[in-house]
Amino acid sequence: MRLSQCHNFQDFRKLAKKRLPSPIFNYIDGAADDEVTYRNNTRAFERCDLIPSVLAGTQEIDLSVTVMGQKLAMPFYCSPTALQRLFHHQGEMAVAAAAEKYGTMFGVSSLGTASIEHIAENFDCPQMYQFYFHKDRGLNKAMLERAKEAGVPIMALTVDSITGGNRERDLRTGFSIPLRLTLGGMLSFAIHPMWGINYVTHEKFRLPQLEEHIGMKGGATTTVSDYFTNMLDPTMNWKDVEELVKIWDGEFCLKGIMSAEDARRAVDIGCTGVIVSNHGGRQLDGSSSTFDQLKEVVDEVGDEIDVLFDSGVQRGTHVLKALSIGAKAVGGGRSYLFPLAAAGQPGVERALGLMREELERDMRLMGCQNIGELGRKNLRFR
Ligand code: FNR
Ligand code: LAC
Repeated sequence: MRLSQCHNFQDFRKLAKKRLPSPIFNYIDGAADDEVTYRNNTRAFERCDLIPSVLAGTQEIDLSVTVMGQKLAMPFYCSPTALQRLFHHQGEMAVAAAAEKYGTMFGVSSLGTASIEHIAENFDCPQMYQFYFHKDRGLNKAMLERAKEAGVPIMALTVDSITGGNRERDLRTGFSIPLRLTLGGMLSFAIHPMWGINYVTHEKFRLPQLEEHIGMKGGATTTVSDYFTNMLDPTMNWKDVEELVKIWDGEFCLKGIMSAEDARRAVDIGCTGVIVSNHGGRQLDGSSSTFDQLKEVVDEVGDEIDVLFDSGVQRGTHVLKALSIGAKAVGGGRSYLFPLAAAGQPGVERALGLMREELERDMRLMGCQNIGELGRKNLRFR
């Protein structure tokens, strides 16, 4: 199978599976416990149907949206994900270049393998910085100041990961940082030599968002798991976050909001956005699908702040359904990570290109010329 034969999410997933050692593929593809939420995230879109308007005289399709002060050429963006250089040696460089080409936003993880400064200096795509809350308040402040200095326009605090999700595939393969593999996991590295050759012959694996601050220089791979257990603050609360929002003094959203009540509290503490997300089913299994929660969040705060959405998105029509409910933009994780793993930058470009084509074609079939014309009148729930 070649990149030119990848036409959808499942095709990219298959090619990624072929290219990657299995512990890495399963880290991306896996989710928490029984992976029920992971499956439901995508299935939820099937319980809702689109209703087109015909003979609308549709001419040029305009896919642009403005979200948290940033104009995006299309309403689909790359959600922040960790460790991209493990998936392909080009890592974040490939994703940032593809996001720039398609005029969309790139979420950079605190556990990213390229620095926010490097991405800001070299790529012209709006950057969302995904942030974790540390026990050390001084450190939180320093990280926000660093992001301000780098010119990052949007801060996203992840609120669904105060402890690690139970990823049983990772327990079976031994995926951890550092890699402590089971025998099967090691064999899989042995039969994917190209991955290993590329990994060791390209830029060294680093976690630049963290190493500057917490003395991880040179030893990043030995301290990331400690990072989650020892550095992050599981007691984080609304008061703590209110202070961060004040310090940031700019576009600030909470990633992982699942209810109207929490969305209201986000508005109350000064957030300018929320991301309805369940981390792609990787944290609390058994939690609702994000698509099922989107309506209540939009109804509560959609007129006051920007509601973004992710988890389970694999198709242009999924994006259109979320936008019709009232999301301002829609993110994807695995939908660009499998293409990255499959083929690096050309892979991500192909995935974003196919997404743009799907969105354009489906907008035309819906009889809508611009995103603002989508609304709940376009939808029927079963
Ligand atoms: C993630 N996600 C994530 N989120 C976050 O806030 N910080 C992070 O470092 C990561 N890392 C990460 C790694 C991998 C491999 C995946 C698949 C996901 C979650 C991500 O931002 C997003 O919420 C989900 O990926 C959305 O679900 P889909 O699109 O993958 O179904
Ligand atoms: C994950 C963490 C890094 O989902 O957010 O793997």
